[in-house]
Amino acid sequence: MGFVRSLCVCITFLSCLISSVHGQATARPGPVSGTRIGFYATTCPTAETIVRNAVTAGFNSNPRIAPGILRMHFHDCFVQGCDGSVLISGSNTERTAVPNLNLRGFEVIDNAKTQLEAACPGVVSCADILALAARDTVVLTRGLGWAVPTGRRDGRVSLASNANNLPGPGDSVAVQQQKFSALGLNTRELVVLAGGHTIGTAGCIVFRNRLFNNTDTTVDQAFLTQLQTQCPQNGDGSVRVDLDTGSAATFDNSYFNNLARGRGVLQSDHVLWTDPATRPIVQQLMSPRSTFNTEFARAMVRMSNIGVLTGATGEIRRVCSAVN
Ligand code: HEM
Repeated sequence: MGFVRSLCVCITFLSCLISSVHGQATARPGPVSGTRIGFYATTCPTAETIVRNAVTAGFNSNPRIAPGILRMHFHDCFVQGCDGSVLISGSNTERTAVPNLNLRGFEVIDNAKTQLEAACPGVVSCADILALAARDTVVLTRGLGWAVPTGRRDGRVSLASNANNLPGPGDSVAVQQQKFSALGLNTRELVVLAGGHTIGTAGCIVFRNRLFNNTDTTVDQAFLTQLQTQCPQNGDGSVRVDLDTGSAATFDNSYFNNLARGRGVLQSDHVLWTDPATRPIVQQLMSPRSTFNTEFARAMVRMSNIGVLTGATGEIRRVCSAVN
């Protein structure tokens, strides 16, 4: 069964690549980079299994680590590339920056690393563990997997100040476009990747400012009332609300359907529907014939290649929370 699923995924991934070669897909082909599928095939053949088992164990004890790890990978890649810098702990590291305070799942990555160091010391980077784990969380939430090119090396710099430019919950489409295009991701990839909000939650604190005195008629009024009840004006800002109402545990395209009904939770989600630059993309992704899953896989491969360190650059950390 596992083999059949892997095979299907590989076929889908290949057909995805082939369709992009034939110009049928809208996303651009991935950038040239030093990562490749199966990088550890001879140096650590059990690497991907070890990561998958660690993520599965973490997920079984707390399913909320799935969205946590997916978001962590995004935050790693958007701050000086996918180099595992988000994993480093200590004062003034990226982990201490406001957008990263609610990241979860660090212990799962650390657990995978401990097992990998026992099996193949000094071989598998933390940046790759995070990229593989992000894919595994999508599979565990019943999304489509993909082959993750590996061979990233770990960075040695992690500064909170570098994390300030991450996309924020109040960002307009123009600002989101600017932040994604600065890293080589186009508008379609932006919308597809925002579809990561098909799983997980947000704290009231990050979107409560849009709940009261909101005169925007494109917001579903019943939904607004529901959010106001969940996140009262002077209530606990750490209370968490599903980003994809009705389907927050399953990786599917219902997030886009919610956007079209005025049920986006973050302002940055809602504007993907109201802005003419992104609305047609949401319309395509929400349809019953949606290609969201395959497009998400391909966009993740592209995002996971941002600014990677390969070859002799960077290092292979001994533990993910500290440089060597
Ligand atoms: C497009 C710009 C984006 C903005 C402005 C944004 C913003 C946010 C915010 C504010 C939260 C809530 C954080 C909290 O309260 O703890 C969140 C959660 C989340 N984001 Fe994004 N995000 C964006 C793109 C992405 C992308 C590209 C991915 C992954 C591919 C992603 C995955 C997630 C996930 C899975 C969660 C839920 C986390 C959890 O439940 O712990 N986001 N995002």
